[in-house]
Amino acid sequence: MQYLLVGVVGRLFAGMQREDLGIVTREEVLMPEYFPAGLQHRETEMQAIAEAVKPLIEGRQPDNLFIHGDSGTGKTTCVKRVLEEMNKYTSKVKTVYVNCWEYSTRIAVYSLIVNALKEILPRRGLATDEVFDRITDVMEKDGMRVLVVLDEMDGLFFHNEEKLLYELARAGKGKPFFGIIGISNDPYLLVDKDVRIKSSLRLTDFAFKHYDQAQMAAILSERAKAGLMPGSWGKDVIDACAEKAVARKSNVRVGLELLWKAAKHADKADKKKITVEDVEAVDGKTLYDAKTKKPLVECSFEIRSKSLAEEEKLILEILKGGEKQSSELYPAFCKKLMRTKRQIRNYLKALEAKKLIVVEEVKGSSPMLNTKKIRLSWQEVKK
Ligand SMILES: Nc1ncnc2c1ncn2[C@@H]1O[C@H](COP(=O)(O)OP(=O)(O)O)[C@@H](O)[C@H]1O
Ligand SMILES: [Mg+2]
Repeated sequence: MQYLLVGVVGRLFAGMQREDLGIVTREEVLMPEYFPAGLQHRETEMQAIAEAVKPLIEGRQPDNLFIHGDSGTGKTTCVKRVLEEMNKYTSKVKTVYVNCWEYSTRIAVYSLIVNALKEILPRRGLATDEVFDRITDVMEKDGMRVLVVLDEMDGLFFHNEEKLLYELARAGKGKPFFGIIGISNDPYLLVDKDVRIKSSLRLTDFAFKHYDQAQMAAILSERAKAGLMPGSWGKDVIDACAEKAVARKSNVRVGLELLWKAAKHADKADKKKITVEDVEAVDGKTLYDAKTKKPLVECSFEIRSKSLAEEEKLILEILKGGEKQSSELYPAFCKKLMRTKRQIRNYLKALEAKKLIVVEEVKGSSPMLNTKKIRLSWQEVKK
C-alpha cells in the first residue's frame, strides 16, 4: 500500500518541470519590503552615513543627519544597512529604528529605546519624563550611546511631538548620548521649524539623488534574477520598467510593482516569457485573482509598508482611478464609509503629510468657489 502510494505520487509529480512553477519563482524578492542582500549604486551614501555616525562609537559627537530624497530612492534601506553594520561592529552603541508614523509620540519612541537598552520598566505607568530620565541614567551607568533613526520624521511634527528632538539633542550634559538620523521625502521639512530645535540638533543635510535609467535597470535586474524564472525576462522588459520608474521621480517601488505585475500578466496568459506589451498592459492597473476576484496584492507597492487608517486606504483606492476634485471625492467616499466632511478633510491632511497625495488649490471666480484637486503622488510623472 505504502509502496503503491509512493508510486502514484511519484507519477503525479514526475512530469512536473521547473516551468510549471510559473514565471514568478520567489515572489517575496519582488516585494518592496524585501531587504536585498546588496544595495547597488549607494556605496557613497552608505559610506557617508557611516562616517557621520562613527564618532559615536568612541563616545565623540557624531554628525547628526537629515536625509531627504524622493520616495523609493533607497533612503530607508541604506540607513537600515548602516545600522546593521553598526550592530555587528560594536555593542557600545545601540541602534533604534523608528518609523515616526507608526511610533509618533515621545513615549512610544522612548519605549523603543528602553527595549534596545534591554531595560525593564516597572509596570506602573511612569510619566514620559521619568522614562527618559531612566534611559539617560542607564546610559550614563553603562557608558552606552544610542543611534536613533527617525524615519518619516514628518509624523513627529504632524503629531506635535518635536519636543523629542530637543530632549535627545540636549541629553548627556555635554557628553554625546544620542546620534540622530532624521529621514523624510520632504527636503523642506525643517525649514519652518523651531530654531531652538534646529540649533541644538545641528542636522547636516544629506540628499539622496534620483537613480538614472542605467542604475534603475541594474537594481531591477538584480531583483528579476533572484525572483523570476531564468529566461523569462529580458533587457527590454527591465528597460521598460526602469524607464517608467525613472519618469515617476525615480521610485524603485514603481519599477518593482511593474515588473511583478508584468510577470503575473504573462503568467496568466500561460506565456513563458514577459514582453514589453505585458509591462504596458499592467501600468496603472490593479490585478485581480481569477478565482477570488480580489486584488492580487492588497494595495499598491507604494503604500504596502505604511500604517494607514481604513479611511486613508479608501481615499487612495478612490484616487487610483485618477485625479479627483474634492467635490467628487466626498460622495465617492461616503458611498463606502459614512464620515463628516471635516473628518475626511483630516484624513486628507494626514495623507498629504505622508506625501502620498498631492493637493492642488484651484482658484474659482470668487474665494467661495475655490476647489481642490487631489491626486496620488506616486503616479505623478516628472516634469
Ligand atoms: N540601490 C538599491 N539597490 C537595491 N534595491 C534598492 C535600492 N534602492 C532602493 N531599493 C529598493 O527599493 C525599494 C524602496 O527603497 P526604500 O529604501 O524603502 O526607499 P525610500 O526609503 O527612499 O522610500 C525597496 O524594495 C528597496 O529594496
Ligand atoms: Mg523610506
